[in-house]
Amino acid sequence: MRARHMPFAIGVAERDAWLMCMAQAFDETLPPGPARDAFWERVVALADWMRNREG
Ligand code: HEM
Repeated sequence: MRARHMPFAIGVAERDAWLMCMAQAFDETLPPGPARDAFWERVVALADWMRNREG
């Protein structure tokens, strides 16, 4: 999955913008609770791992 993203520059700003969109999708679709919180932690870690540029 990370390799598929290499053609796109992903730095901190892109990661954070992507996470803001995903947070909105979470708000619209998932009820609050521990399952959602655990899922969110994994999504944040994965989005950070997708970074392929400094800054
Ligand atoms: C949890 C992290 C992420 C997951 C699971 C994810 C998943 C995906 C998937 C499944 C695709 C389309 C399938 C493919 O081409 O292989 C895709 C495309 C793409 N992703 Fe991500 N992504 C993640 C993070 C990010 C981040 C942080 C960015 C930065 C903005 C990003 C930017 C893009 C772009 C530009 C495309 C191509 C869209 C297109 O071709 O129209 N992704 N991503």
